[in-house]
Amino acid sequence: MSKRDITPTDREIVMREDDFIVSKTDLKGRITYGNRIFIEFSGFDERDVIGSQHNLVRHPDMPRGIFKLLWSSIQDSKEIFAYVKNISRDGSYYWVLANVTPSVDANGNTLGYYSVRRKPNPRALPIITKLYRDMLNEERNAGSRDAIAASTQVLEQFMKEKGQSYENLILSLQSL
Ligand SMILES: Cc1cc2nc3c(=O)[nH]c(=O)nc-3n(C[C@H](O)[C@H](O)[C@H](O)COP(=O)(O)O)c2cc1C
Repeated sequence: MSKRDITPTDREIVMREDDFIVSKTDLKGRITYGNRIFIEFSGFDERDVIGSQHNLVRHPDMPRGIFKLLWSSIQDSKEIFAYVKNISRDGSYYWVLANVTPSVDANGNTLGYYSVRRKPNPRALPIITKLYRDMLNEERNAGSRDAIAASTQVLEQFMKEKGQSYENLILSLQSL
């Protein structure tokens, strides 16, 4: 079954308090490792996951602007925290708070990337859901070429209203 056949449903799978969903990718975002819980939440067989692009679990409700921020950070050797809505093979969705980091060798060369996801604060999710919906709407209105710039502006406006940097915003939502 390919990712194109997945129809999103309203069924949510909730992470358990002590779950960690872990995956590693190469420099191009192809999955090189997924822990048992990653495989479980994806709904795929391990052999279908390893070697696939990480957008295998991309949910259509996610704005492109968030992935742009994610890739810009890690390609700039910086870690990032992000709330991400992912899709399972059966169309269910699950929210995570991801911490994505570059894996660096002794000489400082980036070998790949690493993501550890834990259960997001349920109180943060209505706020993030609305923010991402607003970002996605702007992306649709702006059209493909200007989508990322348009949704990044929505995110920046949101941070400005809250008077917080992106990092502080995410971490404060997690402790709401
Ligand atoms: C280590 C790592 C973990 C990632 N985890 C996810 C994830 O859990 N969900 C997701 O949708 N994208 C994840 N991505 C981002 C994807 O590579 C991709 O940019 C995103 O799904 C958007 O795909 P698209 O550009 O094909 O639309 C991850 C990337 C890296 C490097």
